[in-house]
Amino acid sequence: QSRKTRVLCELAPVIPVLVVGDAARAEGLATALVAGGLPVLEVTLRTPAALQVITEMAKVTGGHVGAGTVLTPDDAKRAQDAGASFAVAPGATERLVRACEEIGLPLLPGAVTASEVMRAMEMGFSMLKFFPAEAAGGAKSLKSLAGPLPQVSFCPTGGVSIQNAPDYLALPNVTCVGGSWIAPDAEVAAGDWAAIEARARNAYALR
Ligand code: 3PG
Repeated sequence: QSRKTRVLCELAPVIPVLVVGDAARAEGLATALVAGGLPVLEVTLRTPAALQVITEMAKVTGGHVGAGTVLTPDDAKRAQDAGASFAVAPGATERLVRACEEIGLPLLPGAVTASEVMRAMEMGFSMLKFFPAEAAGGAKSLKSLAGPLPQVSFCPTGGVSIQNAPDYLALPNVTCVGGSWIAPDAEVAAGDWAAIEARARNAYALR
């Protein structure tokens, strides 16, 4: 289940979590992030423009564009049709897992507790999103899972920043982190690609 998402998570230390309201910004934003060394992009399905943003970003050479906030089989289908090459979910349900499997869309599902992680393992996953990372106890909490569940790797997301990212990336069970700090709304709206590319470079240098 996690073969492809693991490869994606190994490509860069940070997966930018993108909330983009205007598809006209998609190409410039994705180009800046890829140029800054962050080729794996998560476009949240939280704006009416999200699917169109995915389609535009998927055209950018060198990028790997996925859909975030994928909650239902319908979300997964629409994201894939729009050009998403993977899906991220805040949690995991059997219905969603089955749907992604059926359409061949790699899924990075979320888990926080030992039971959630064990259930995801039973469904065949070994690469998970740890969400909401900071609110769920942060790096300390995630480190505790590495003892009994060393075979599972995580992409902690939610409250992750350039300041606390190193704490996560130092853990043996963290492959990369996710976060929206890379592309602040105001800079995306203004098309300030130089600032976003610079922030991406800083993030790339975390590893
Ligand atoms: C999300 O899905 O909103 C991500 O977890 C991003 O969280 P962040 O805005 O705290 O980085």
